[in-house]
Amino acid sequence: MSTVAKSYNERADPVVGYCSEHTVVQSPLQAELQKETLGNAPMSMMLGAPEVLTFGQNFIRSFGGKRVLDVGTYTGASALAWALAVPEDGEVFTFDIDHTNYKKFGVPIISKCEKTFKKIHAIEGSALEELDKLIADGQSGTFDFAFIDADKANYSNYYDRSVTLLRKGGVIFVDNSLWSGSVCNPEKRTDGSTLAIHEMNDKIYKDDRTYSALLNLGDGTHVAFKK
Ligand SMILES: C[S@@+](CC[C@H](N)C(=O)[O-])C[C@H]1O[C@@H](n2cnc3c(N)ncnc32)[C@H](O)[C@@H]1O
Repeated sequence: MSTVAKSYNERADPVVGYCSEHTVVQSPLQAELQKETLGNAPMSMMLGAPEVLTFGQNFIRSFGGKRVLDVGTYTGASALAWALAVPEDGEVFTFDIDHTNYKKFGVPIISKCEKTFKKIHAIEGSALEELDKLIADGQSGTFDFAFIDADKANYSNYYDRSVTLLRKGGVIFVDNSLWSGSVCNPEKRTDGSTLAIHEMNDKIYKDDRTYSALLNLGDGTHVAFKK
């Protein structure tokens, strides 16, 4: 049995379950959005692992993070987590090529709490183009936290843009960094997403711009700290 699995996955082993039971803290809105996504949204396994979201919230709260990049919105679970963690004047920029699932499943639930909802700036379009627009707009060095969870082919590009947009001491979480364990098997690295994630893990490990650690948390979480 794989030890790489999100806690809501029935295949998750008892150690993952135990760790999650002693990690995950969800507000009622988060629990509602998770239930709605797993029950009714298409491709529900894209939902961010709650243990990763809680861990990210802990980082944001511990260092007083205010401005967050959320690359890959889907139904909005990660954007909601970050919006709950940043203070009243905090901002979450969440990017997705298509916000249909966010509008259908996320907005009706998240908008029940106006003060949380108003912190979220939902930007529809190519995340890479939108991150480049922020850089061109002079916003480099102004973000505290980035969560990368969109198309795997662009992971390395999202990481580079996030390093640029983060301030010194800012933190990046790269989700799905173990890709169900497939990155560990050289024979499986012929698949496009597996190869892209493996190459990005190598790149982060060797990157002089950050300190980092690859964790077996959720589907793998590569954590990088900007020097
Ligand atoms: C794994 S889901 C994100 C899950 C979400 N972060 C959460 O915690 O539930 C990945 C999302 O990336 C989006 N995506 C794929 N390619 C993209 C691109 N080129 N630019 C922006 N978003 C993209 C997909 O539409 C999808 O909604």
